[in-house]
Amino acid sequence: MKIAIDGPSGAGKSYLSKTIAAHYGFIHVDTGALYRTLGLYALRAGIARDKVAEICPHLEKIEVSLSFTSEGQRVLLNGEDVTDLIRTPEISMYASAVSAVPAVRDFLLETQRSIARAHSVVMDGRDIGTVILPDAEVKIFLVANDRARAKRRLAELEEKGIQTTLEEVLADMAKRDENDRTRATAPAVAAEDAVLLDNSELTRDQTVEAAIRIIEEKRQK
Ligand code: DC
Repeated sequence: MKIAIDGPSGAGKSYLSKTIAAHYGFIHVDTGALYRTLGLYALRAGIARDKVAEICPHLEKIEVSLSFTSEGQRVLLNGEDVTDLIRTPEISMYASAVSAVPAVRDFLLETQRSIARAHSVVMDGRDIGTVILPDAEVKIFLVANDRARAKRRLAELEEKGIQTTLEEVLADMAKRDENDRTRATAPAVAAEDAVLLDNSELTRDQTVEAAIRIIEEKRQK
């Protein structure tokens, strides 16, 4: 069983996917972590954000892998666990930049597909329903208005002790959404057969309930 959850940043994909995966006993795959890890690599390699295509010659010496523990997914960069290093606003912007490079998307494609071949998954990202798992049995495109998304993102960052403001989060989010939606390769758009779920006015629990209703309807068909 493959469940694809796509949508813009801050829509709540991660919490929703994690909760649904626990509900059904599936693995939750957060694909954004893969792009974030390559963003971290680019930053460490001294590659400027507007020249991230310079990461291409490095790809042959990079290994990015995911492991799944009872506490959730860990991501390894050449064997180093970088899970806790990739959640900063700086890495978010780098991830968005590297994710527009077609060779980077190709590089990460098989990692994602092979996990879905081996396990039942709830996979969250931007192009899961369109490119990575076009044959997913359930596809949800999760959206919320800008203010709702920025407020949630701000709360997440504050929880991690990262100091920022709502205005800064709104501006970063707008820039990242624009990059992700308008890039030439695998833009972050809903698959034709995705169900659109707007959770601007929903609590987390109500969002989970709505998603489970969508999944159950699809499973009965
Ligand atoms: O979901 P996230 O915020 O962790 O993702 C970080 C960036 O990675 C996001 O701005 C776009 C990119 N991304 C992508 O292009 N495709 C995916 N499947 C997941 C993330």
